[in-house]
Amino acid sequence: MRKKIVAGNWKMNNGVQETEKLINEVKDSISILDQKNVRVIVAPSFVSLTSALENAKNSKIEVAAQNMHQEKNGAYTGEISAEILRSIGIKTVILGHSERRQYFGENDKLIAKKIDAALANNLEIIFCFGELLDQRKLENHLLEVGSQLKNSLFHLKAEDFKNIILAYEPVWAIGTGETATPEQAQEMHAFVRNVLANKFGEKTANSISILYGGSVKPSNAEEIFSKEDVDGGLIGGASLIAEDFVAIIKAI
Ligand code: PGA
Repeated sequence: MRKKIVAGNWKMNNGVQETEKLINEVKDSISILDQKNVRVIVAPSFVSLTSALENAKNSKIEVAAQNMHQEKNGAYTGEISAEILRSIGIKTVILGHSERRQYFGENDKLIAKKIDAALANNLEIIFCFGELLDQRKLENHLLEVGSQLKNSLFHLKAEDFKNIILAYEPVWAIGTGETATPEQAQEMHAFVRNVLANKFGEKTANSISILYGGSVKPSNAEEIFSKEDVDGGLIGGASLIAEDFVAIIKAI
């Protein structure tokens, strides 16, 4: 059975004290839930990772990084490598987020290199992809997503997908309050699974968790999560408020 996953992407929010507070609030609220097949992940800033790991100990909460550099080490001022993440006990990293693509010029090819570096260091990846508003309007969304998947994932082996979680995040729905309809999400998730089935086989495609991200909140989570190919969510804004994040976890 595919794992259900609710992941919170905190982006550039929360210092160390706020991280501790938020993690502990979430931890206390979900300790009474019995959701064995559900993973809960939070991704604070690099600076707060150690403290997040410490505070999440002996709880259901896992801690992920939001990004990493593709090179092993060296003269890359201000960057963090897979190895450095591993050294503090991080096991999961978000790669290919649309904000990285949009504001930091990351493209499919670079993201493919980051994926290789993460896998080489035994890091699990939450790989984000999604179309822009114009591409959706022109009905090119499937074409665009197909090409992102091809460019960043098609060089991998089927077994690599044991360490990959996918997150479909239509760029027009991120932080805008506008959400894809459950039908739009389902259409894309089924398409993605089909693309992966053709390339890597049914078994691999059926075992991959595909999350939806883009303005998920307590009021729409349940409907989106009810779709067959939606295995959870990558949550931005709503993951910064313990009550909302916990409500989304309950919705799954
Ligand atoms: P949002 O962000 O929930 O604030 O739209 C989602 C994301 O960027 O992962």
